Amino acid sequence: MKHLIAPSLLAADFANLQRDIEMVNSSDADWFHVDVMDGVFVPNISFGFPVMEAIKKHATKPLDVHLMIVNPDQYIERFAAAGASVITVHYEACTHLHRTVQAIHAAGCKAGVALNPHTPVTLLKDILADLDLVLVMSVNPGFGGQKFIPNTLHKLRELKAMAATLNPELIIEVDGGVDIHNLGDLIQAGATAFVAGNAIFAATSPKEMISELKNLNAGLLK
Ligand code: DX5
Ligand code: ZN
Repeated sequence: MKHLIAPSLLAADFANLQRDIEMVNSSDADWFHVDVMDGVFVPNISFGFPVMEAIKKHATKPLDVHLMIVNPDQYIERFAAAGASVITVHYEACTHLHRTVQAIHAAGCKAGVALNPHTPVTLLKDILADLDLVLVMSVNPGFGGQKFIPNTLHKLRELKAMAATLNPELIIEVDGGVDIHNLGDLIQAGATAFVAGNAIFAATSPKEMISELKNLNAGLLK
């Protein structure tokens, strides 16, 4: 299957959000990546329900919601009601991760778990079969426009090998510092979905950049 592209609206122009959403609607992108930050789990605050509901009103593609918040269990149903298709929680924020994943499925959404750069993928061994997606953070979460952490490649390879036996359908998503230069290596390492903020919205033509990212064929690169 061709890889998925999820532009991160964190890098959009919030004063022209409808314009930027419509650009993504008409592009080759697959999902909208929606970054929710609470100022506690990460040292930044982004936006919450009113903005997400406004996004949902205009978006014609699924919302891939990345919760960088403590106690996500409290809000699963509200994020589902606000239009999330995928809800991803952080491994580091969930004491009872299995319960949280069940709650996401019960709310009718795909369930994802995100790993901070220091969290080993092996910690997911006993939950991997229950997940739809794993989000491997390739920067420390909290801000767009950061530099890609190269150790991510090794984590992706390890996760791909684990998924081959435990959950072959698993979507392996990578988030942070993804651009047209490292995308080929990330595809070859096993990632199947790509979040990109700055690489898309700071490009001369964001829509063309989305097409370039979507149509890059890792097999032809090397
Ligand atoms: C960072 C967020 C990312 C961010 C990616 O905490 O989870 O989704 O928007 O932005 P870029 O692609 O600019 O690194
Ligand atoms: Zn994100």
